[in-house]
Amino acid sequence: MKIIYTKNYDEMSKKACELVVKQINEKKNSILGLATGSTPLGLYEKLIKEYKNGLDFSEISTYNLDEYIGLSEDNDQSYNYFMNENLFKHINVNKENINIPSGINNPEKEIDDYENKIRDIGGVDLQILGLGSNGHIAFNEPSEELNAKTSIVELTESTIKANSRFFEKESDVPTKAISMGIGTIFTAKKIIILISGKNKEQATDYLLNSNKISTNWPVSLLQLHQDTTVIIDESSVGVK
Ligand code: GLP
Repeated sequence: MKIIYTKNYDEMSKKACELVVKQINEKKNSILGLATGSTPLGLYEKLIKEYKNGLDFSEISTYNLDEYIGLSEDNDQSYNYFMNENLFKHINVNKENINIPSGINNPEKEIDDYENKIRDIGGVDLQILGLGSNGHIAFNEPSEELNAKTSIVELTESTIKANSRFFEKESDVPTKAISMGIGTIFTAKKIIILISGKNKEQATDYLLNSNKISTNWPVSLLQLHQDTTVIIDESSVGVK
C-alpha cells in the first residue's frame, strides 16, 4: 500500500483528483469505480472543475459500489440520486455508461447481474473508496465472514446511525443495501481510498499499524490488493 498524508480535506481531494485525471489522460475510455458518502465530494467538485477546463468524460464508464434497497433513483437519499446531483449531471459522461445497482429491481437478480457486468469488463481501472467509521468499505460491514461477490447486505446499527445524518429521522434509513463484495472490489486494477473524519481514527489505526488482516475491520483487507493508495486528511485523522 502506498500512503499519502495530506494536510487537510482540500489537499486530500486535490491529490485524489490528480490521480483520477492522470488515469483519464492515460486512457480516455477508463472505467472508474465510484463511491458515495461525504468524503469523495471534494474530489467530485474538483473533477467538475476539470471538466469545465476541458477534461473529456465522454468515453468514461462508471460503476458505483452500492445502493440502498427500497430507494428509487428519484429518491433524494438514494445513491443513484447522489451521484447524479454531485457529479454526473455536471460532466459529459454518457448516461448509458453509468452503472449503479438499482434499489428497487428484484434484488436477487440485481446482485447477479451487477456482479456479472463487473466480471465481464474484467474489473474497473480505478476504484475510489471511502471508509466507514466501523471499518467498512462499500457496505461490507465488519463480521466473521465477508461477501466475495455483489450481495444483499444488512446494515449494522452503527452504520444506520452514522448515515442517519442524511435522512430526516433514523427510522427512514434503509436497513438493507446492495453492495459490491470484497472480491468484486478487488477486481479493480487500482484502488484509492480517501480517509477523512475524526470518527475514522480507529479503523485507520488498524489499517496502518496493526499488521493484521481481519474481517472485523474490512478495510484491512486492502493490504492484500496489489495497487492500493491510501490518501489521508491529516487534519482530521491524526494517525500515522
Ligand atoms: C457509506 C458508504 C461507504 C462510505 C461510507 C463513509 O456507508 N456505503 O461507501 O465510504 O458511507 O461515508 P462518509 O464519507 O460520509 O464518512
